[in-house]
Amino acid sequence: MDKLIIEGGIPLHGEITVSGAKNAALPILCASLLAETPLELTSVAALKDIDTTLKLLDIMGVKVTRDADKVKLDASEVGSFEATYEMVKTMRASILVLGPLLARFGSARVSLPGGCAIGSRPVDLHIKGLQAMGAAIHITHGYIQASTLHLPNRRLQGARYYMDMVTVTGTENLMMAAALASGTTILENAAKEPEVFDLAVCLNKMGAKIKGAGTDVITIEGVEKLNGASHNIVCDRIEAGTYMVAAAMTGGEVKLNNVQADLLDAVIDKLREAGAEVTIDGETITVKSDGKLNAVNIRTAPHPAFPTDMQAQFMAMNAMAEGVSKVTETIFENRFMHVQELQRLGADISIDGNTALVQGVSHLDGATVMATDLRASASLVLAGLVARGETVIERIYHLDRGYEFLEAKLTALGAKVKRAH
Ligand code: UD1
Repeated sequence: MDKLIIEGGIPLHGEITVSGAKNAALPILCASLLAETPLELTSVAALKDIDTTLKLLDIMGVKVTRDADKVKLDASEVGSFEATYEMVKTMRASILVLGPLLARFGSARVSLPGGCAIGSRPVDLHIKGLQAMGAAIHITHGYIQASTLHLPNRRLQGARYYMDMVTVTGTENLMMAAALASGTTILENAAKEPEVFDLAVCLNKMGAKIKGAGTDVITIEGVEKLNGASHNIVCDRIEAGTYMVAAAMTGGEVKLNNVQADLLDAVIDKLREAGAEVTIDGETITVKSDGKLNAVNIRTAPHPAFPTDMQAQFMAMNAMAEGVSKVTETIFENRFMHVQELQRLGADISIDGNTALVQGVSHLDGATVMATDLRASASLVLAGLVARGETVIERIYHLDRGYEFLEAKLTALGAKVKRAH
């Protein structure tokens, strides 16, 4: 299995371009299932999760053409409405085919995702929302079996649905399903993440009638059919945030191109509070620091609050900052798997329930570490960039799921990073 070897202690300098967002691309790729003519996308990053989604769509009969960051998806002849356990266990976001399949074809069979490294992550709200739209859903043999065959014209029915918890993929699944339903659907307590907004923009280009995306009430007037469109995927705010922290921690100066600063307000505020200089100029953000940072308290919550997907990276930053900080995780129950590994590098962190208490230390020392999820891996890369000596990060397939051209981008900024088998 591949590992990443990092020689720490080099301040990062230079500029890189931020890729298209993984978490926007995944639902938008699945939205191609709703369209009768081809959907053309640009800024689709070269990531493992994207490969997995394209493979899943291909198995279903979607014709996929890919050329660098451009992907064309033709779902005019879909022949299978199933996402198997093998696919869903590789990538939980495979659940995003459920809404589109059911809405367009009246039938879907999707494996229930199991637990994962960061918690139990149920999909009950996806299921309840579809049931509110009239779908018949049975859970058998570990599969969600959904049908609309009993409904008039086999179409889902518009409904008002309040989501008990803010769920990103849940909101996306229901928004896609409602786009082809008969009548109007109102989703309350919807996720406001920029990736939900980007999906709505794309669906509207395809002929959907969606209002309110980006707020917590989304109104979807169902239409009879959707067509393809052209869409450029929004920038990856989490990738951008990760490189911003890297610049701050290493005491360098990094300019990021192709980034929307307004999607990163909470992250930018915290970086400034930590003492980094953040300059925004159009679609660029520059982060400059002397590497002497203050510890900052973090509390994750749904957008626009501080993103859970940046929690691990800030934990790494706090590990070497001046002072004590509290990092509270409110979204996922078990998202502190990076703590033990950061401790192996010399970090002083204790956990009490969903809060980690981080006492900044003067230095970290390189060691061999291993990560259990994507953002935990990112935090280990950041720690490795400042640790003394060599840090070896095992199981980097997690990083390949979410960071496009990671070594190339880090190398362009002057880091000493190499991949080994
Ligand atoms: C998405 C993101 C992930 C991010 C997360 C939170 C994608 C592909 N992934 O994941 O990177 O960390 O949002 O911002 O976009 N929940 C339920 N029942 C449900 C659905 C969710 O109880 O039916 C709970 C989850 O267990 C979790 C919380 O709601 O505690 C939020 O999860 P959710 O927003 O659904 O995360 P994902 O959409 O899976």
